[in-house]
Parts: sequence; C-alpha cells; structure tokens
Amino acid sequence: MAPPPMWWVDLLLLLKLVLLLPAPALAESNDEVCLSNIRRALKDPSNSLWNWTHVNFAAPCNGFTSYLQGVTCNNGRVYKLSLAGLALAGGISPFVANCTNLQTLDLSSNQLDGPIPLELSALLNLAVLNLSSNQLTGPIPPQLVLCAYLNVIDLHSNLLSGSIPDQLGLLVRLSTFDVSYNQLDGLIPVLLANRSGLAAGLPRFNASSFVGNRDLYGYPLPPMGGRGLSVLAIVGIGLGSGLLSLVLSFTAVCIWLRVTEQPATMPGDEGKISNLMPDY
Ligand SMILES: *[C@@H]1O[C@H](CO)[C@@H](O)[C@H](O)[C@H]1NC(C)=O
Ligand SMILES: *[C@@H]1O[C@H](CO)[C@@H](O)[C@H](O)[C@H]1NC(C)=O
Ligand SMILES: *[C@@H]1O[C@H](CO)[C@@H](O)[C@H](O)[C@H]1NC(C)=O
Ligand SMILES: *[C@@H]1O[C@H](CO)[C@@H](O)[C@H](O)[C@H]1NC(C)=O
Ligand SMILES: *[C@@H]1O[C@H](CO)[C@@H](O)[C@H](O)[C@H]1NC(C)=O
Repeated sequence: MAPPPMWWVDLLLLLKLVLLLPAPALAESNDEVCLSNIRRALKDPSNSLWNWTHVNFAAPCNGFTSYLQGVTCNNGRVYKLSLAGLALAGGISPFVANCTNLQTLDLSSNQLDGPIPLELSALLNLAVLNLSSNQLTGPIPPQLVLCAYLNVIDLHSNLLSGSIPDQLGLLVRLSTFDVSYNQLDGLIPVLLANRSGLAAGLPRFNASSFVGNRDLYGYPLPPMGGRGLSVLAIVGIGLGSGLLSLVLSFTAVCIWLRVTEQPATMPGDEGKISNLMPDY
C-alpha cells in the first residue's frame, strides 16, 4: 500500500489542531441581548441607528420583518445584520454570539477598531462574514473554522496582524476569501493557496486575496513578493541618494568658496590663511 499523500497528513494534523482549540461556550440564543450589546459597543456619530431603541430590541423581529435598521429576520429570529458604510466606530461586541441564527454579518466600510471577537465561532449558521474596510486589529481567530458553513470571509483593508490560521483551509464551502491589505505575516496556508484532488496545482484563491501584506509570503504570491525591494523603494532610494549627493556636493562647494574667499575679506590674516590652503 502506498503511503498517504502529503496533504492527507497535513489534514490530520489540522484536525488535531482543531480539536485542541478551546471549545467556545455554547452561546445561549438571545437576539435582544445580542443586539443591545452590539449597539452599546458602537459609536454612531451620524445617528444611522436612530431606531435601535430599547422598545425595538425587546422584540427585534416580527416574523419576517424587523424595525431595526440593517436587521433582517427569518421566522422571528435575527438572520442578517448588514450595517455597511454607516460611519460606525467602536468595536464588535462578543455578544454577537447570542444571535445564534445569524447567517450574514456585514459591518464593512465603517471605522470599527479592536479585535475580531473569537466568540463569532459560536455562530454555527454563519455563511457570510464581511468586516472589510475597517481598522480592526489583532489576529484572525482560528476558531472561525468552527463556522462550518462559511462561504465568504472578507477581511480586506484592516490592520490585522499575525499569520493566517492553517485551520481556515479546512472550511470546504469557502468560495471567497480576502485578507488583502492588512499587516499579516508568515506563509500562506497551503490549503488556502492550492486546490486539492483533481484540480491540485490550481490556485484555490488568487494572489489578489493576499496582496498588500508586507510580510506575507508563499504561493500564490509571486516569489519574493513583498520581500525584495519594490519598484517604488528602488526609485525612492535612487532619488534619495541622488538628492543626498547633490546636497553634499553643494555643501562642499560652499565650504570651498568660503575658504577661498576668506583671504580677500580678511586682508590682515592673509599670510596665515594662505599657509593653510592646499596646493592645487
Ligand atoms: C450569551 O452567550 C453567552 C455565551 O457566549 C452566555 O454565557 C450568556 O449567558 C448569553 N447571554 C444571554 C443573556 O443569554
Ligand atoms: C428604522 O429605520 C430604517 C432606516 O432608517 C427604516 O427603514 C425603518 O422603517 C425604521 N423602522 C421604524 C419602525 O421606524
Ligand atoms: C464586502 O463589503 C464591501 C462593501 O462594504 C463590498 O464591496 C464587498 O464586495 C463585500 N465582500 C463580498 C465578498 O461580498
Ligand atoms: C501549489 O501549486 C503551485 C503551482 O502549481 C506549486 O508550485 C506548489 O508546489 C503547490 N504547493 C503544494 C504544497 O502542493
Ligand atoms: C483568479 O483569477 C482568474 C483570472 O485572473 C479568474 O478566472 C478566477 O476566477 C480567479 N479565481 C478566484 C478563486 O478568484
């Protein structure tokens, strides 16, 4: 019998890593607690959430309708939360985990900061996670692998750091993955970079999903991508050293002019100065 292929060994290793993750507390379903705490953690300078009031939190859903901006309901439960581009600041409350039926969480294009709460991993129905274009910091939680239905992870244009968790490669339904323009580092996980099975050798996600992270490397990024000198850096160094030598030679000329001028301005010291002058 042939030994198992390399990726199979990797898979087993990753499964072990998943089992070692701290198990999240089973979140209690409570849309009211979820929404009121999400609201409390947000700053809303343009008052977009004007009807996120206590009365509306108490009964956020009426069958399939909601009275809260950005909330979509399904059968009396919060199903989608879409608050994109509302100039919201503040952080993402970990109580988001109590909206246990959440399928879409879109908080993109705001000014949110702080971490991605690892409590998101309790959202077992989550299919779409779009937190792009904010100022989120800290790592990408490996616990997201527990959201087995994730189709879309869009985290581009934030300030996320650390490496991309290998575990995310196990999300088989993932069709969009974008972590471009962050501060991520390390090797791109092979299970996100390469497809397996019959399509092995084809990229699973394009380089465009990974660009804009200075210390991230490996396929599908071009070799040495971001590690060697970029064209901009080379041009910069060229211009900088050109300018520096210009300044240096200008200074040298000035000094030389001064030194050669001095005998004329101080006729009394003529003899002394001319002794110091080098012979040309
Ligand atoms: C919200 O979920 C957390 C676990 O994530 C649980 O500890 C807490 O009791 C829940 N809150 C309510 C009010 O259901
Ligand atoms: C709450 O605000 C949204 C958007 O401004 C609006 O569509 C919705 O009808 C409002 N709901 C109520 C009950 O006023
Ligand atoms: C995430 O939201 C932004 C807008 O805020 C949008 O441009 C982008 O397409 C969304 N990502 C996905 C994968 O739909
Ligand atoms: C991933 O695919 C690229 C391009 O086909 C290939 O060069 C690389 O060796 C593959 N990596 C793995 C671990 O299979
Ligand atoms: C990668 O880019 C090619 C074209 O450049 C496109 O056809 C393909 O759909 C892209 N794949 C993904 C996973 O985005």
